[in-house]
Amino acid sequence: MSVALVGAGPGDPDLITCRGLRLIQQCQVLVYDRLVGPELVAEAPLDAILVDRDGIDQDEVNDLLVDYGRLGLRVVRLKGGDPFVFGRGGEEALVLRDAGIEVEVVSGVSSFAAVPAAAGIPVTHRGLAQEATIVMGHDADLDFARLAASPGTLVFFMGARSLPCIAAGLLAAGKHPDTPAAVIANGTRSDQEVVTSVLAEIAEAAAAVPTPALIVIGEVVSLAGAIGPAQRHYGAAARLLV
Ligand SMILES: C[S@@+](CC[C@H](N)C(=O)[O-])C[C@H]1O[C@@H](n2cnc3c(N)ncnc32)[C@H](O)[C@@H]1O
Repeated sequence: MSVALVGAGPGDPDLITCRGLRLIQQCQVLVYDRLVGPELVAEAPLDAILVDRDGIDQDEVNDLLVDYGRLGLRVVRLKGGDPFVFGRGGEEALVLRDAGIEVEVVSGVSSFAAVPAAAGIPVTHRGLAQEATIVMGHDADLDFARLAASPGTLVFFMGARSLPCIAAGLLAAGKHPDTPAAVIANGTRSDQEVVTSVLAEIAEAAAAVPTPALIVIGEVVSLAGAIGPAQRHYGAAARLLV
């Protein structure tokens, strides 16, 4: 009895690991998230049971995984990015272990670094940022004093709707208004959109950007223009306002 928690990567289906793809191709049950590309779901065998978890609450997902795991089926739980980076993979692993089911965790390429990279932004860069902080930006109930004092890069997940509050919080806590800032939507996909600006203006500049989106704040964003989009063509929509 075993369930594999597999990271699908940040969006471009080519960014899944070899191990993750092999497990999908051999699975009997595939439970997948909304952010997972349809190309990867299509890799499952034709007779596999496919479960789109959109609209199913977390407790039900846990129950499904336990039930299918107990049947001894080859179950893949496919998640966007990396299962253990804001992916609730840890919670699912604990539930499965408690139920006596073995868990294999197959790491994925998290959007944390891959999405900024696709926009030409390295999250760390010698002389500009020696550290990077990953932040859950969903409800913007954050320790802005601590974040504003960080000398490194700030990367906010799930922060698109809270962006005006995040920017205002950082400014009020003393972060310089001219700090470079970017919002990258649909990163690593052909419909990727990038908006770069400064902290004081990013909320207005990126107001119309779709989701999923990642917010990057810090001096490394100033490299976006020089480095440019990643080697693959990840969408032309970019507004460089810095
Ligand atoms: C539930 S979290 C999952 C993160 C995922 N486990 C990872 O490691 O990337 C979803 C958030 O990740 C970010 N995200 C994931 N994929 C993205 C993409 N292709 N472009 C921009 N942001 C993305 C967004 O902030 C989105 O709201």
